[in-house]
Amino acid sequence: MADEPQSRPTSATRLSLSHITAQNETNLLGTVHGGVVMTLVDSVAGVVAARHSGGPAVTASMDEMVFLVPVRVGDVVHFSAQVNWTGRSSMEVGVRITADRWDSVSPQVHVASAYLVFVAVDDEGKPRPVPQVVPETDEERRRTREAEIRRSHRLARRQAIIESRQANGDKAE
Ligand SMILES: CC(C)(COP(=O)(O)OP(=O)(O)OC[C@H]1O[C@@H](n2cnc3c(N)ncnc32)[C@H](O)[C@@H]1OP(=O)(O)O)[C@@H](O)C(=O)NCCC(=O)NCCS
Repeated sequence: MADEPQSRPTSATRLSLSHITAQNETNLLGTVHGGVVMTLVDSVAGVVAARHSGGPAVTASMDEMVFLVPVRVGDVVHFSAQVNWTGRSSMEVGVRITADRWDSVSPQVHVASAYLVFVAVDDEGKPRPVPQVVPETDEERRRTREAEIRRSHRLARRQAIIESRQANGDKAE
């Protein structure tokens, strides 16, 4: 961890994971449980964050996820993950989830997109600095710009809730 570079291109740590869904991953409707997809999202994003930061990183938050289409048993689900943005010790990792239907040669479907914040930690679990991510393509630069918007919304929402609790004398959890 001591010899980590000061910056790293997005492409250096981008990862893809593919998973064939199985019977034991279904919900009561017979389609794949959203939590199964979320677990794989967290796993692949965690590997990307660890590779980018050169050591352990913990999930600090996961944004709201919208499932656009159901995943069926047997479908091949793909998770494509990359670091979109870096702060001092935190990183936003974006994961695009797509699926190939197991029983037809149809275009790949977009299942969902997920955005997670990971914080790189040291041996004591305290935040440690991360190399800055360097986007190199127009698409990577767009994702960095959009990650900055999401970051400012997360901070603003957190601050607004703190102020509301203070203004109303609500007890913090
Ligand atoms: C994430 C964690 C290390 C942050 O510790 P902390 O003492 O609050 O750290 P700080 O306030 O100094 O913030 C450190 C960074 O994390 C970011 N951060 C902290 N909480 C965040 C949140 N809820 N959402 C997004 N970013 C967050 C800060 O913005 C800061 O980013 P920066 O260094 O890039 O500017 C700590 O809250 C933790 O260990 N949480 C549990 C994580 C975990 O166990 N995850 C698995 C769940 S089972």
